Amino acid sequence: MNPLIGKSISQLDTPSLLVDLKKLKKNIQNTATFAHNHNIQLRPHIKTHKSIEIAKLQLEAGAVGITTAKIAEAEIMAKAGIKDILIAYPISSPTKIERLINLLATVSQLKVSVDSLEQIKLLQKHLEKTPYTIEVWIKVNSGLNRCGVKPGKQALELAQAILLLSKLTLGGIFTHAGHSYAATSQQEIEKIALAEAEAVLTSAAVCEKAGIKIKTRSVGSTPTYKMAGAVNGITEVRPGNSVFFDEIQVGLGVTERKNCALTVLASVVGTYKEEGRIILDAGSKTLCLDKGAHGNASVKGHGHINGHSNITIERLSEEHGVATFKEDTALTLNDKVQIIPNHACTVVNQFNEFYVHEDGVIKDCWKVDARGASQ
Ligand SMILES: Cc1ncc(COP(=O)(O)O)c(C=O)c1O
Repeated sequence: MNPLIGKSISQLDTPSLLVDLKKLKKNIQNTATFAHNHNIQLRPHIKTHKSIEIAKLQLEAGAVGITTAKIAEAEIMAKAGIKDILIAYPISSPTKIERLINLLATVSQLKVSVDSLEQIKLLQKHLEKTPYTIEVWIKVNSGLNRCGVKPGKQALELAQAILLLSKLTLGGIFTHAGHSYAATSQQEIEKIALAEAEAVLTSAAVCEKAGIKIKTRSVGSTPTYKMAGAVNGITEVRPGNSVFFDEIQVGLGVTERKNCALTVLASVVGTYKEEGRIILDAGSKTLCLDKGAHGNASVKGHGHINGHSNITIERLSEEHGVATFKEDTALTLNDKVQIIPNHACTVVNQFNEFYVHEDGVIKDCWKVDARGASQ
């Protein structure tokens, strides 16, 4: 047993990654309850936590399966026994298709994102040498302008092409409205959420009109899923960040700080109070420089120090966080603070493990199993 279990988080060396178990479970339950109340499926994106333990908590709460971005993430989750996995990423290199095929042997309900004719032909070509077929989901672009075919006609054309390929089955249509992170008001988030649902539903409708059944119509981003998921006809949501939340979500008005389950425990390693500055042992290799991937989220500095709202983490070098204040602060050398990061998903990928605590008492230590699973 880890000798730190039962001890106070204040005894941890820093920087350490902390998960508040009660908040984590509440966030997982909230998402599961939303899906349950709307009679839709939940398929959380595990890129946020990269943890088998947390994925299992999500499945126990009612998720039908998981979403991953990387094949390596899917491989790690599959080894832990998870059987229903959507790889929501364009896979077309021969090396990666071979790995997909290997996964088909153990993951009974594997599906992969597709958005071009070239890609589906490559999948078919590699699968022809095997006994397997693969379920594909068409990705449509609902405004993020990253991957995906245009909703409607282009989705139908791809669906018709899939039907002609003996090794591919069409299981669903999905989208991700990541541009919701650039929204500057709740009304704008709502507008994006409705357009997200519309992109999927329009595409499904034209397919069904042409006699092609679309079983799953999936949407999801933490800012939009509760609105897009409530639209009649949507069958699934895939939030990722909502398992922890972070400063970007607080800045967007998606949640309140009290719900943020993930913090970084950091120490004061230098005080220059007459110059209005203290130094924390959390720099860009810990907190990341992220202020929001798809636009400028309304965050102040590089994370929020719990209980010290007068202090701003103004700049980061690799291992130093430079925190400034106007009046004085009671913080002195070796004091420890908890920082809510701007972007939980990137911060998790900097750590080997989470210390799981309840009211400051360490209950467990979980591996960040898919840390660095970047291929
Ligand atoms: C395809 C896909 N689905 C779902 C998500 C989850 O989004 P969020 O973390 O905003 O909940 C992402 C995030 O990158 C994604 O790319």
